[in-house]
Amino acid sequence: MSEGKTGKFRSSEWFGSSDRIGFIYRSWMKNQGLPEHLFDGRPVIGICNTWSELTPCNAHFRQIADRVKRGVYEAGGFPLEFPVMSLGETLMRPTTMLFRNLASMDVEETIRANPLDGVVLLVGCDKTTPSLLMGAASCDLPTITVSGGPMLNGKFRGEDIGSGTSVWKFSEEVRCGLMSECDFREAEGCMSRSAGHCMTMGTASTMASMVEALGMGLPHNAAIPAVDSRRYALAHMAGRRIVDLVKEDVRMSRILTRDAFENAVRVVGAIGGSTNAVVHLLALAGRIGVNFELEDWDHLGRDVPCLVNLMPSGKYLMEDFYYAGGLPAVIRELGDLIHRDALTVNGKTIGENVADAPCYNRDVIMTVKEPFKSTGGLVVLRGNLCPDGAIIKPSAASPELMKHRGRAVVFEDIEDFHARIDDDALDVDESCVMVLKNCGPRGYPGMPEVGNMPLPPKVLKKGITDMVRISDARMSGTAYGTAVLHVAPESAAGGTLGLVQNGDFIELDVAARTLHLDVSDDELARRRAEWKAPAPLSSRGYSKLYVEHVMQANRGVDFDFLVGSSGATVPRDSH
Ligand code: FES
Repeated sequence: MSEGKTGKFRSSEWFGSSDRIGFIYRSWMKNQGLPEHLFDGRPVIGICNTWSELTPCNAHFRQIADRVKRGVYEAGGFPLEFPVMSLGETLMRPTTMLFRNLASMDVEETIRANPLDGVVLLVGCDKTTPSLLMGAASCDLPTITVSGGPMLNGKFRGEDIGSGTSVWKFSEEVRCGLMSECDFREAEGCMSRSAGHCMTMGTASTMASMVEALGMGLPHNAAIPAVDSRRYALAHMAGRRIVDLVKEDVRMSRILTRDAFENAVRVVGAIGGSTNAVVHLLALAGRIGVNFELEDWDHLGRDVPCLVNLMPSGKYLMEDFYYAGGLPAVIRELGDLIHRDALTVNGKTIGENVADAPCYNRDVIMTVKEPFKSTGGLVVLRGNLCPDGAIIKPSAASPELMKHRGRAVVFEDIEDFHARIDDDALDVDESCVMVLKNCGPRGYPGMPEVGNMPLPPKVLKKGITDMVRISDARMSGTAYGTAVLHVAPESAAGGTLGLVQNGDFIELDVAARTLHLDVSDDELARRRAEWKAPAPLSSRGYSKLYVEHVMQANRGVDFDFLVGSSGATVPRDSH
């Protein structure tokens, strides 16, 4: 604990002095009606809120924050809510991923600069979870994360429909004439019918599960629906608990150990989680100083079966998942695949937390002996097309395409793709491999979720719903398909992906973990000599900083200068 000059906690450096500076720190705070006793040296808890009406998944967070405050007060703490940059997945252009690192800087600097002893992170929509965890990790104060919870199941004409996953399905049906535009429009309100984030096992649900699996949240953080009263009770209890964490000085680095990351990888496999977890956890490990690499995703996740029958890989949704027992039931089922001694924020080990976790529905949460899919983990590919790695999610892909050799159909960027994909003259069939360039961290910039390229209508019309697709982009966690993602180095950074030409042959062999471009080294050298890096899209501001400092997908797409922690040493006085 950083001992203050006048008291036990960090906040005492602000509120604990009786001179002019102390007057200033307290007086202006008192304009909010805060009584004198709150400044008596008790733990000050920051509630880091990503509420925004521009982030609909987090639009109920003022209520969640109020419940956290109740808990903090009840435990004798002093809660102070503050806003940070909120990243709304659906509205922000060109992609929220461009701003994940910026939001993490906001979080880190706001925490360090203020009189906070502990923090509760309120997260929900995809990037709000990693950005807050990353920023907080670079301060390393006692921290609890509270996710906002998923929306209730979508309901459309008697059927359950899932965020994202059903959008991709419906839009393909409209493109090949199986669904009317009128019905498509009606489905909008039927899909998103309550507060909360995407209720498929997309990136938000995966990251909420990561919060729980890493030990950074309370049990059941992952799945309680946003509008279920128990979500508010969990927020209340997190408020109570953070005060104890501060008193016990249990910092993030005590929770986020190598064992915690290994647990998280295995849980991603067991839940059929989003590929986006790869870049987010790599970046988080980099902040907290844990040795955790891209390759770990493969060897740790290799033997993990997918236990959870949730969209996009399966049939159910997060609401069903919670009623079936939620993440504790999954972690319990994983048995020895989990480091049971890993500490969690409630003061118990993860093993203790799930020791008696029941499962109420084996159609939703299956067993290791009889899993939903035998392989749930993500596969890391290597080869001349991705010397620094690429990933594929077999549980969302087509088994018959796991070993495939096909002719490349190349799109130079996403605009080129949109301009030509619906053209019947496009020389493509289902045996081809669609290749998309310039959608990596630097090239786009921001590495958007466009890796699950829609199929050409002339292929769809044959009833074919999947093809091999390769890109340096990411894919929405709600999407599915045989998509090779996160190719590194990316095309705009001089990767081999940028040298692929129409008509080249590409071999994917998931079992052998290889991705190979059938072009000779001499020819590749000739093409490389002719290759010119695309001109940067921006010469100023944050985009310039981003392009100059962003690392590749195998390094978590963090900024090179943000790796590591600066701690929470109290900065110099401001007056
Ligand atoms: Fe916010 Fe999916 S759009 S979680």
